[in-house]
Amino acid sequence: MSENYLELDVAQGIPVWDEVFQREKEQEKLRKLDEKELKKAAALYKKRQQQAAKELQESAAEVCKKDAEAKARECKAARVQKQQEKDAATARKLLVAHSLKLRGSYARKPLCKFSLRYQDQKDSKPRSLRLCRISLPSLLPYSVPAPMSATTETKVYVVTGANRGLGLGLVQSLLARPQHTVVATVRSEQAKQSLEDEVKSVTKGTGSTLEIIQYDFSTAIAPNQVESTFAKLNIHYIDVLVLNAGGAQPMVPPSETTAEDLRAAFETNTIAPLLVFQGLKSYLLQAKSTPKLIWVTSSVGSIGDMDPFGGGAYGPSRAAQNWLARSIHLEFNGTKGDTRLIAIPLHPGWVQTRAGQYVVDQWQSALKAIDYNIEKPPTTLEDSVSGMIKVIEDATAEQSGQFLTFEGKSLPW
Ligand SMILES: NC(=O)c1ccc[n+]([C@@H]2O[C@H](COP(=O)([O-])OP(=O)(O)OC[C@H]3O[C@@H](n4cnc5c(N)ncnc54)[C@H](OP(=O)(O)O)[C@@H]3O)[C@@H](O)[C@H]2O)c1
Repeated sequence: MSENYLELDVAQGIPVWDEVFQREKEQEKLRKLDEKELKKAAALYKKRQQQAAKELQESAAEVCKKDAEAKARECKAARVQKQQEKDAATARKLLVAHSLKLRGSYARKPLCKFSLRYQDQKDSKPRSLRLCRISLPSLLPYSVPAPMSATTETKVYVVTGANRGLGLGLVQSLLARPQHTVVATVRSEQAKQSLEDEVKSVTKGTGSTLEIIQYDFSTAIAPNQVESTFAKLNIHYIDVLVLNAGGAQPMVPPSETTAEDLRAAFETNTIAPLLVFQGLKSYLLQAKSTPKLIWVTSSVGSIGDMDPFGGGAYGPSRAAQNWLARSIHLEFNGTKGDTRLIAIPLHPGWVQTRAGQYVVDQWQSALKAIDYNIEKPPTTLEDSVSGMIKVIEDATAEQSGQFLTFEGKSLPW
């Protein structure tokens, strides 16, 4: 018999069938139980999964919320800081421009709101500026005492031809010093713009300011015109007038110098600066300490130490200028030692500027002929400017009327 057939014990048939049914029933029960358990487990699993997903979502939302809150806080802090910086910059400018001093009560609070009262320099009306949460220590260095005596008074410099070269160098150096008002003159709107751009990089000294006015020296400029232009600035005195604007014409020998070049050279280097001096003389004489007239000249103008190269129209225009500078010295300085004005014709050196380079190029072949090979002028702009400022500041009544170099040496007339 095949093993596929159930072997029945006839005698005990019923119990065997019972046993088979019973076993199948139990197995069925077990299967159902398994299915139920399985379903239960699956449901539980699903529920737990949903729960976990929900928790994940919730915590992600929480993180997002915290991130957003932190970002909002950061933005607000940045906004406040920006406002504070803006207000502090405005306050600094006002303190400096109006020579204001922070009161002691302000200084006790490190961060506070306050309003700054000042008098507008343009229309002299009282103005008030409300400022918020400024760090006062950041303002204190800019808080300057109002001028009280001659020693704390703002020094007023006027520099002509200030848009480039030596004039620009002088303006930049003077502005970086504290308590200096620098009046720079230029001859065109373009030159004014260029000067404004150039001084952007300068960190101005406490209380120092720049004013720009326009004078063109190509044709005689009337002294009263010079004066009325200056009067608009509402500045009442000048300590130092630096007559610097000037230029060189072709550096040829006298046999080739033209009348046209002579007229142009005298106009720019001799006549116009003299007229500027005449226009501003009354302001110089208002200075508290002895005023100084510094007339930038050139060693090319020296007759006693003349170079064997062509000086063109430039040399004679400088020689005439030196004569006038010496003469101004005599006019304002009595024989009994009463110095009313220090007048110095000042040679800046052979300097690396457009004018200095022009002379190198003009003299190139003459210099080569004596084996003096140079590509550019020997003196740097920085050396010339710092030397000139030292000579100007140290200038004494005894030096008035002397022909000096930027190194303080005396040159023959
Ligand atoms: N560099 C030297 O080696 C040297 C030596 C001895 C003496 N200097 C004298 O030093 C002074 C400054 O020269 P620098 O070396 O600085 O030369 P720069 O770079 O050529 O500057 C000359 C300045 O003078 C101005 N200027 C010229 N002609 C003018 C006019 N008709 N009206 C108004 N402004 C005028 C120029 O203004 P623009 O830009 O509008 O032209 C410029 O600002 C000059 O008087 C020069 O002769 C120079």
